Amino acid sequence: MISQFVGLVTRREGRKFLKLNPEFDESVTAEEAGDEEVSLYIHIPFCKTLCPFCCFNRYLFKEARTRRYFRHLRSELDLYIQRGFKFSDFYFGGGTPTILMDELTDFIAYLKKHFVVKRMSLETTPREVSRQNIAMLKAAGINRLSIGVQSFDNDTLKAMGRPFVTGEEAKEKLSMAQGEFDTLNVDFVFNFPSQTLTKFEADVRTFKELGIDQATFYPLMASPHKKSSLERKFNRVDTFREKVFYGILLRELYAGGYKASTAWCFSRGERMIDEYIIDFDDYIGIGAGSVSVYQGNFLVNSFSLDRYEEFTGRDRLPVVGWRRLSAREHRRYYLLTKLFGLEVAGEKFYRRFNAGIHEKLRDELLFLKLSGLVKEAETIRVTPRGMYPVSVMMREFFTALNGLREFYIERQI
Ligand SMILES: C[S@@+](CC[C@H](N)C(=O)[O-])C[C@H]1O[C@@H](n2cnc3c(N)ncnc32)[C@H](O)[C@@H]1O
Ligand code: SF4
Repeated sequence: MISQFVGLVTRREGRKFLKLNPEFDESVTAEEAGDEEVSLYIHIPFCKTLCPFCCFNRYLFKEARTRRYFRHLRSELDLYIQRGFKFSDFYFGGGTPTILMDELTDFIAYLKKHFVVKRMSLETTPREVSRQNIAMLKAAGINRLSIGVQSFDNDTLKAMGRPFVTGEEAKEKLSMAQGEFDTLNVDFVFNFPSQTLTKFEADVRTFKELGIDQATFYPLMASPHKKSSLERKFNRVDTFREKVFYGILLRELYAGGYKASTAWCFSRGERMIDEYIIDFDDYIGIGAGSVSVYQGNFLVNSFSLDRYEEFTGRDRLPVVGWRRLSAREHRRYYLLTKLFGLEVAGEKFYRRFNAGIHEKLRDELLFLKLSGLVKEAETIRVTPRGMYPVSVMMREFFTALNGLREFYIERQI
């Protein structure tokens, strides 16, 4: 009941992010402002096959197109370099960032030429994991490697449109990569229509047996269109079942010595997480379909490869949607992302907004406390009871953004 309520409120907040101005005021990113660090997300939107459930901006891999894309990516990065941005933390996502290793390593070398690189995180799929690629990624300085396994169950993998690596092969690839990076993460999806609770439980147990550093469990997020195509193919996307899946993963992971780093990410020991939206108040996204949150602004890059190249080819930022968040929207977005990271520090809020958190988010915090979702000592922390509602809030926020993604992809904006 509470999770449904907070989910609804969050979806409504998320929908506000969809009301975008197509005319971007470039002065917003005229130069890097403030003392806070800004992280950089780099999107590589190419995959060898396209999984039907995937809600990210991705295109079928073609070598020449991908090589051209990397050139344009550099042009976009140059625009931020010219504006004086000093990034130190980098997150490669996709798509499949490892799809052309020579382009990727050249791009990383370019980053190192321009920035003092502190940390780099990168996503890949099991089929891209090889001894050679691991060695190249290590040499390039990748600290955190995230491998999208989704499930070890072959029927579930087939239903997900990912029959190219079996569960057994995925396990071998994970063992190959474990211990090679500061953090090895594995992505799983739960509440997939044909996935049973028993199969999911077996997946979590297998993950624990492998002794991997970290796992991120994504609740299936269906955008309006994806939801209907999935429904047609399988059965209903059932958000009520989701809570049971979530209970299983908490029980199994806590018993296995994992601690929650976010509502979806569980780690052993201190590990780097992928959630630049938690660690950094501001982040810039480059690449087709990336979004940025910068100084109270929400920016959306073109999802179309052609338009992306057109913009960057003319030395213009490829931003096709922009919203200056109202002070309230910004504060609520801040609260959501910090809750997702399981703690909200009053003094950090003060630094960011120059006002007390209890003054500016009084009603929200009162509701969260009275419902038992957070408790407060020095910092505000999500309680065990709050874990699932926070997961629902994030799922709803991302689902709202998926609506935006789908709209932009369909119309090639
Ligand atoms: C963008 S993918 C990149 C990783 C890599 N391409 C792969 O698939 O192995 C990052 C993760 O997002 C998750 N994901 C993608 N589409 C999703 C959806 N519709 N709902 C929930 N999670 C999703 C998957 O767990 C995936 O591993
Ligand atoms: S889940 Fe990964 S491999 Fe599949 S289409 Fe999405 S980005 Fe590509």
